[in-house]
Amino acid sequence: MSTYHRPGVGPGTERSGAGTTAPLGAIELEEALVALTDGVVVCDAEGRVASTNPAAFRLLGEDELLGRPFDDLLLVSGAATVQRTEGHVVRRAWFPREERMGVLEIVSTGVAERGWIHTVRDVTAQAEMLRLKEDFLLQVAHELRTPIASMTASLDLLQQDAATMARDDLERMLGTLRRSALRLEHLVENLLDAGSIEAGTFQVRTTSTTIRQALREALEFVQPLLDGKAQRLVPRIAAGADRVLADPRRTAQVLSNLIANASKYAPESTAVTVSTASADGAVEIIVSDEGPGIPEDERGRLFQPFFRSREVREAAGGVGLGLTICRAIVQAQGGDIRIESTRDSGTSIHFTIPKARELTEEASGT
Ligand SMILES: Nc1ncnc2c1ncn2[C@@H]1O[C@H](COP(=O)(O)OP(=O)(O)OP(=O)(O)O)[C@@H](O)[C@H]1O
Ligand SMILES: [Mg+2]
Repeated sequence: MSTYHRPGVGPGTERSGAGTTAPLGAIELEEALVALTDGVVVCDAEGRVASTNPAAFRLLGEDELLGRPFDDLLLVSGAATVQRTEGHVVRRAWFPREERMGVLEIVSTGVAERGWIHTVRDVTAQAEMLRLKEDFLLQVAHELRTPIASMTASLDLLQQDAATMARDDLERMLGTLRRSALRLEHLVENLLDAGSIEAGTFQVRTTSTTIRQALREALEFVQPLLDGKAQRLVPRIAAGADRVLADPRRTAQVLSNLIANASKYAPESTAVTVSTASADGAVEIIVSDEGPGIPEDERGRLFQPFFRSREVREAAGGVGLGLTICRAIVQAQGGDIRIESTRDSGTSIHFTIPKARELTEEASGT
């Protein structure tokens, strides 16, 4: 490093890279600095830029750096100090990058009384990841708080009045308690599954089962949600499109996630239809609702973890994991999942599961 900021390697020579007369070791170091993706900016005792490597120009988005006070460049971009230790200052600043703003981290180290060395690194990806994680944690905390607050309120009322309460009121209250507990269970299950999908340890165990059975199991979970909004479930399971090769519990989980979405995002007193049809060695299952639909530009992103549509984000809770998990389950069972949605006239989620072998054979007469 010492050769790099020595007098002589200054304005005019820093962009051209290696000098020709320097000893072998120094040339290697300068070549390394030229190739480095982090920016290196050397300033004199007054804080003016004396030399830089090419990455610094690119990261700072400047054509001319030499002779300019480095701190002025950072002032323009609103740099904030994030850490200060003996001899080092770490700052973060916003800089224009291709189409959007990027985040740079600048570590400044004083060299005796002679000047400063600043390293400049693009930390946009880490900053975005951190923001997603913070948003996600806030959303999870919010999702936990709502059912817990509702359970506490119901339990308080029960504690005061259970002995004298009318049976109807008691049942309503227990219904609320159960819905809140189910919401917590749904959240925790989804979080655990998202973790195993991310870790690549997610598994399904397929066996011969029926959609009818999976729907019965799913309804144990979602019926209270439908009841809470006076919605009705319309089952249309075709006789020849019921037996599949699937993981029974996971298939019920797909159905309960899709029906829970239909219930959550559609208005009160609407219908949610679950129908099946034969489709080329598979059964196609369709869950449709009479809700607001999904804007076209957002449809491609719905299976991404944590993505939630701007249309419903405020109106209904959720962390944006349900569809990600549905897709993982459907694909692990050898099927596909897709969305059909028309603005203002509802959403249909279509997914397929291979037919159980016995039936395919029976159907084809083998
Ligand atoms: N039936 C539907 N009608 C309208 N929008 C829907 C429907 N199903 C899903 N969406 C949109 O897709 C987004 C992602 O759905 P997903 O089930 O993955 O997450 P979520 O419901 O927000 O949260 P959770 O993880 O609790 O399921 C939702 O936030 C919503 O914007
Ligand atoms: Mg959902």
